Order: sequence, then C-alpha cells, then structure tokens
Amino acid sequence: MAVVAIGACYVDTILTTPHYPGEDEKLRASTLTRQRGGNCPNTLEVLQQLTQHVPSYQEPLLKLVAVLPAKSSVASEQIRSGLEPRVRLSHCIYREQFSEPASSYIINSQSTGSRTIVNYHELPDMTVDEFSHIADELDPQTTLFHFEGRDPDVTLGCIQYIRKKFPHAQVSVEVEKPGRPGLEKLAEEADVVFYSKGWAQHSGYTSAEECLRKRSKLTRKATLLCCTWGQDGADAFEPGTGTLAHVGAYSAEDFRVVDTIGAGDTFIAGMLYGITCKARDWDLSTKLGFANRLAGIKVSQEGFSGLD
Ligand code: FRU
Repeated sequence: MAVVAIGACYVDTILTTPHYPGEDEKLRASTLTRQRGGNCPNTLEVLQQLTQHVPSYQEPLLKLVAVLPAKSSVASEQIRSGLEPRVRLSHCIYREQFSEPASSYIINSQSTGSRTIVNYHELPDMTVDEFSHIADELDPQTTLFHFEGRDPDVTLGCIQYIRKKFPHAQVSVEVEKPGRPGLEKLAEEADVVFYSKGWAQHSGYTSAEECLRKRSKLTRKATLLCCTWGQDGADAFEPGTGTLAHVGAYSAEDFRVVDTIGAGDTFIAGMLYGITCKARDWDLSTKLGFANRLAGIKVSQEGFSGLD
C-alpha cells in the first residue's frame, strides 16, 4: 500500500487572537506559532501516525510531491526533518533560485474558532512535465494518488498521466478552494472526491447531502464522494450503490474548539486511511465516522500531534 500526495507545502505563521480583528484595529495576539502546513503535508502528517502500526504500511510508503525552495535552504531542511523518515520527500521539486517557502499568515480567532488564512508564494508551481518525470520513478505498486486541486489544467494533466501509467491506482482529489474555476473538471476524472463546505456553498449547495447527490450526476468515474460541513458534520456518498452516510459533528464532554487549521486535511487523512487500509475492511459509515472523529479531535487541540 502506498499513497502519494501531490500539493503545496507552506510554512504557517499562526497568531491566536481573542477575536477576529476589525479593519484598522490594533490587537494583541495571545500566542504566535510557526509550523509546517499545506493540505497534503498536513494529511500525510496525520496519515503517517495512523499507519505506523500497520504492518502492510511499512515505510516509506507515504510520499509527498511538492515544490520547495532550494534544497539546502533552512525552510526545506526543516520541512524534511519534520516529515521524514515516515513520509518520503525525495520526489519533491526544489527551486534552487528561491530560499523562501510558500507562507501562510493565519489568524486563529478564539471567539469563533475561525482560521483566516492569507498566503503568499513566489515559487513557480509544478508543471505536468515535471510531474510525469517524477511519476516515471514512482513505485508501480502505488495504491492511491491524492491531489490537492490547485491549477486545474496542471492537475488534470497529472491525473491523465497517472491513468496511463498506473491504470490500477486510485485517484483522489480535493475540491476545496471556493470559486476556483475548473476544479469540478478534476472531480470528473477522480475515483474519490473531497468537497469542502466553502466550495459547496460557493457553488450554491445548502447541505453536504445536496452537494454530493447533485455532483454525483456529473462525476461518472467516482466511486466515493465526501463533503464536510463544519458544525453539521460530514456526508459520504457511494454513487454505485446509492449509499449515503451522514455523521454529526464530533463532540466530547469537554469539547472546545481550539484550532481548526487543517481540520479538513485531517478528515481526508482519516478517509484515505479507511480506503487504503484494507486490513480494516470498514463499511462507509465506519470510515466516515472515523475520519469525522479524527478531525474533531484535531480541532480540540493545537497542531497534529498525537492523533494515532
Ligand atoms: C490548512 C492549510 C495550511 C496552509 C493553507 C494553505 O488547510 O493547509 O496549513 O497554510 O491551508 O492553503
């Protein structure tokens, strides 16, 4: 079992504030944290914890394909040391002319639990050509390729290459960014699709179920569609059998929203674990319940540690 995740890697600078600041306001943060972020790296960080005790998932079967600054830059070294050896970064693309990573500046508001992200990067994105060279070197046994839906044309080209080169592998895609044109085209090519609430709402859907039922008519190849909906939990739909599963938001007795950064990435890790870890042989509701609970636990703590 091997999972390759393809997406951007960020360094997150997180300010926790008592409330979200108004424009032109001055506000003192209670903490400042700097940590590696990015949807796919976050997902792999969680997935490596979940899989560390599964014998068929022995290292280094989790791989990240991301664009990073120069190989010897401080940022690249920190990113590698934070993920390796359980996640292999040897297929990352280093832009030697750059020393700064992609950066996110995040306001984590304690009063609402919202995380407002402003990001910036100068690193040129991966091209289809670069990806196909990488794919040529990947293990032919790769079980699943997970793509963060970024530049739709590039991601589409990469998926098409994977379909030719790895006809038995599954392809999953995250459709997260609201209003980014072309992401729906990626969903049409994938086996598994993860929709975010933000994308679904922006596309006019008022619930996870509505999003999944309506999108399933357009995603002919997909065997599984998922959609998270914040306080309303998450849904998953298998178009082949017509099975819809729903789970309410996770809540424990002393549950408190602490840090929602990467909650969606954690949910995806839980689902990918359920999908690829055949040893578990879970049905749809069990996979969904597991992923939802994992994301809920993540929200109640800072960062991603101790989620196994
Ligand atoms: C959370 C996250 C952050 C990163 C940002 C990128 O989902 O991956 O870690 O800075 O989103 O969009």
